[in-house]
Amino acid sequence: METAEIRRRFVAHFERHGHTVVPSASLLLDDPNLLFVNAGMVPFKPYFLGQETPKWDRATSVQKCVRTLDIEEVGKTTRHGTFFQMCGNFSFGDYFKEGAIRFAWSLVTGSVDDGGFGFDPEKIWVTVLPSDDEAKQLWHEVAGLPFERIQERGLEDNYWNMGVPGPGGPCSEIYVDRGPAYGPDGGPNADEDRFLEIWNLVFMQESLSQVRSKADFDVEGPLPAKNIDTGMGLERVAYLLQGKENLYEIDEVFPVIERAAELSGRKYGADPADDVRFRVVADHVRSALMLISDGVTPGNEARGYVLRRLLRRAIRSMRLLGYDGPALRELLPVSRDRMKLSYPEVETGFDRISRVAYAEEDAFAKTLLAGTQLFDRAADEVRSTGRAQLSGAQAFTLHDTYGFPIDLTLEMASEAGLGVDEQGFRGLMAEQRERAKADAKAKKGQHADTGVYRGILDAHGPTDWLAYETLQTESRVLAVLSGGAGVPALGAGEVGEVVLDRTPFYAES
Ligand code: ALA
Repeated sequence: METAEIRRRFVAHFERHGHTVVPSASLLLDDPNLLFVNAGMVPFKPYFLGQETPKWDRATSVQKCVRTLDIEEVGKTTRHGTFFQMCGNFSFGDYFKEGAIRFAWSLVTGSVDDGGFGFDPEKIWVTVLPSDDEAKQLWHEVAGLPFERIQERGLEDNYWNMGVPGPGGPCSEIYVDRGPAYGPDGGPNADEDRFLEIWNLVFMQESLSQVRSKADFDVEGPLPAKNIDTGMGLERVAYLLQGKENLYEIDEVFPVIERAAELSGRKYGADPADDVRFRVVADHVRSALMLISDGVTPGNEARGYVLRRLLRRAIRSMRLLGYDGPALRELLPVSRDRMKLSYPEVETGFDRISRVAYAEEDAFAKTLLAGTQLFDRAADEVRSTGRAQLSGAQAFTLHDTYGFPIDLTLEMASEAGLGVDEQGFRGLMAEQRERAKADAKAKKGQHADTGVYRGILDAHGPTDWLAYETLQTESRVLAVLSGGAGVPALGAGEVGEVVLDRTPFYAES
């Protein structure tokens, strides 16, 4: 079943059951605590918290999501993707556990002829929070699941929160048994490769004031209503229904791997190290396409840095596969042609998207050139002093100053018959990460003040941008900001921001 068809069936199922279909929000929704939208519920958060009155009792969406915490895992496991689509159904104080279980079960196990996904009910397992007898009983009664296939898992797995203060609640996950070829028997508690999680039903009922980890958080109190938030991984269901081994091989992603194989002259499926590279290429090209489409541009901080990293890792992986030409010019259009079926904006906006991506590739090519010269000099120095390996500091400078990724350094060193002090390198990286963490923490406070801009926007509407008509104009000062907060005035020598009602200055597009 094609990915587009799975998404269509999901939405149709919930529309039939009284849910309003809500289009995906941008990946850059201005939630101050999130770099990118990372779950289907994010756009609905104010409804769960009771900050805004929901426009509907029931809604359904297929939300674009980006999660980059696991970027190093991409390609190595079967189920980590940086971009993915979360199919969700939401109840705002309407149905609760029973409804959520009933709707999910009928879609997952409903026959293909009747609009379902046709999974064999015998292959389905679920997990619940140990204290949630109600959910356990409902799975048994509503779905007819035997108790052996209803497993208990602790807060870590069966309590969902956003990772930051916000709504949360016990959850129940649905798993599909892929068979003994994929791992030992014994349900999700025994093996999560064989038993693949496809859908998480969250019984959203509490407001969390502090979240220290998945299992360590403070409950502030009950939410104004009991809600449902669910997330079904579109890509995961696609690879199961398409009989593929992992999410990189589904119809929306695999054509990029095929093109990368043609360009590099190497075969997918021939060498495990190359396969990881192929998957990194396919995942990252798609994520970059979607991020640029939603307005991210490469940079050295925050969202821009994530995009830069994705693009550079894709280009570098192509080089490690033996292809030195401009890879994005070949691969981005392939990804566009798959993704435009669900997201027409990647085609209509492709001029801009491709310009941004190709400029980054050209810049990275220069970086690689400069880095290669530096590497050669470092290698000469090592040889002339009779050492056998590059120092951690040399590898770190290549990485930090020239954006030269460590695996490229390792590969080039090995080609030159040299080693690298990887441990020393990793130590320096860890120190840098600590610095970055402290920095990000400091920045979080600033980022949280986007509410100030929103307030100005709500009060005055967007700034009129006049640059196509004039380069000079009179404007009204709507607000003066310092350190992210409104101030009455700025004195001589102070730095701040001025928000105008209209301007010919180019700010952003
Ligand atoms: N919000 C839930 C999740 O992301 C459904 O898993």
